[in-house]
Amino acid sequence: MNQILNALQKNSETHPPVWLMRQAGRYLPEYRILRQKIPTFMDLCFHEDYATEITLQPLRRFELDAAILFSDILVIPHVLGQKVHFIEKQGPVLDPLDAHTFFEKAKDINLEESLSVPLKILSNIRKSLPSTKAVIGFAGSPWTIATYMLEQGKSTNFTKIKMLMETESPLFTQTMAVLEEAIGTFLIAQVNAGADVIQIFDSWAKVVPKAYQATWIVAPIRRLIARIRSRHPDTPIIYYGRGVCALYPQIIKGFSHITFGVDEDVPLSVMKDQIQKLAPVQGNLSPQVLREGGERMKTNVDALLQAFQGTPYVFNLGHGIVPQTPVDHVAQLIDLVKGRVFQK
Ligand code: CP3
Repeated sequence: MNQILNALQKNSETHPPVWLMRQAGRYLPEYRILRQKIPTFMDLCFHEDYATEITLQPLRRFELDAAILFSDILVIPHVLGQKVHFIEKQGPVLDPLDAHTFFEKAKDINLEESLSVPLKILSNIRKSLPSTKAVIGFAGSPWTIATYMLEQGKSTNFTKIKMLMETESPLFTQTMAVLEEAIGTFLIAQVNAGADVIQIFDSWAKVVPKAYQATWIVAPIRRLIARIRSRHPDTPIIYYGRGVCALYPQIIKGFSHITFGVDEDVPLSVMKDQIQKLAPVQGNLSPQVLREGGERMKTNVDALLQAFQGTPYVFNLGHGIVPQTPVDHVAQLIDLVKGRVFQK
């Protein structure tokens, strides 16, 4: 049994297991070399050899306890028929969602076939890593993916999707229904392919107004978990809901083997006294503190290690690594977590 699974099954270790959101990516020079060889980011996600290698790159450098599939939450709209383009310095831009054809066509798509490359990558990495390392699969939540689909990319005020939600527009409700189904199918397939753990990224959960949270965050996430549980009753599921830890008690009701990801805005006391009472926790070092490094990073890491020593905890960031992060800071962070001397 590896350390991550141990922690997620509520056992504890002397040093917590560690992996980092966006541990593969632009802060690594070896990633940038492979990225340059392929014209579009989406093609890179579907390049079996390169994406397998990129998944493993951070584990070659650092003593991480898990590999996370190199892919993106937007592969789902892409294969369902709403093409996604990654534009430098702008991020993802999606084609308009043509309701006349999209839902009709989406019904007929065999997801396991169209996502066979990410699934193959999971089985490749499960085979190439020792059993001491966990393999993490993932997907975005229905809401978080829907924000990109309906806003056609990264939004600043989310007005469009909010209006569609408030008016119960079929465009919104159908999109959410299609996504829930697709995400459930994909996550189950990821476990079948070799993922030991799955994480649901709900990076934009905090945008949903309070009055709508029960219907459009809590209920879809619970249905998704129930669907995965019906096939894989014991697979650990990490739910990372940025800005919505107040909903965690409702989300977990009746489920076991859940871990909660915690963003960097949540105070340590809340993480320990409230969230960890429900389930093992994961997080929440600020990615900006990791980028800054030095004494501030050491102080913040020490506080987390001290607070969670010997309890069910997975060390991670509160959000993904930023591309400007020096590689040395990541090496120093892992040394700190593993109890080695901090070398500046
Ligand atoms: O964590 C990992 O190392 C696995 C790979 C991974 C990526 N994206 C690679 C990526 C994962 C788990 C994601 C999740 C993801 N993608 C989320 C949820 C987590 C979060 O950050 O909130 C979201 C919202 C996306 C959508 C997305 N993908 C955006 C907004 C962007 C542009 C911003 C950016 O960082 O460039 C991406 C692109 C992306 N996804 C890159 C990588 C390595 C950079 C692409 C490049 O190299 O040009």
